[in-house]
Amino acid sequence: MAADWTRVDDYLVEALQPDDPVLDQALAASAAAGLPAIAVAPNQGKMLQLLALSIGARRILEIGTLGGYSTIWLGRALSPEGRLVSLEYDPHHAEVARGNIARAGLGGQVEVRVGRGIDLLPGLADEAPFDFVFVDADKSSNPDYFAWALKLTRPGSLIVVDNVVRGGAVTDPKGDANVQGIRRMMQMIAAEPGVSATAVQTVGSKGWDGFCLIRVNG
Ligand code: SAH
Ligand code: DHB
Ligand code: MG
Repeated sequence: MAADWTRVDDYLVEALQPDDPVLDQALAASAAAGLPAIAVAPNQGKMLQLLALSIGARRILEIGTLGGYSTIWLGRALSPEGRLVSLEYDPHHAEVARGNIARAGLGGQVEVRVGRGIDLLPGLADEAPFDFVFVDADKSSNPDYFAWALKLTRPGSLIVVDNVVRGGAVTDPKGDANVQGIRRMMQMIAAEPGVSATAVQTVGSKGWDGFCLIRVNG
């Protein structure tokens, strides 16, 4: 099954997305630096970019940078005045990401801040509201990240949360801390009258997972 999913992902990316040496090099540099291969797939990165472009996002917030692969996809959705802030706990990941972001020509618009998301988010109030938030860090903190994303956005903003299915584990009420974080976030979203949301399963080169798409009402 997984081999089929990857074959089809390879076909879809080859069919619709031009070769992209900058993004390929970002993945190669991340692998060479020992980072795990858990960046979004190329077609998922493109989807994030299209969503950000569709709403004309000028301020983007990312939680969980890794080597900056999704950051580059999103950074390319910005007009020249646009800004992206990405939060990353691991200083080594952040250093690799900064190199990849600079090689992508986005060094002037994208800032990687090092620290725990939960410690850095309160300091972003002056830079809010963000038009688009991509949540992709430690899944156990998703309830906190969703609460902060709500505070830091405006009516019409989009919030995308990655990895909400985790090979089907999300349906287990006794799942691990990551599953608990995802399930509690889902309850918060459902109880929040100020947003409209859906979640979609995905299969592909990254296995069986899914994302949650949330729109702030207005
Ligand atoms: N968005 C990236 C993938 C991120 S992987 C992409 O698709 O290309 C998750 C990242 O979150 C890792 O780099 C990990 O170090 C970071 N992370 C883990 N816990 C964190 C925390 N508490 N605060 C901020 N980042 C965290
Ligand atoms: C993991 C994290 C991710 O952001 C991802 O896309 C896939 C896996 C993980 O921590 O295992
Ligand atoms: Mg992810």
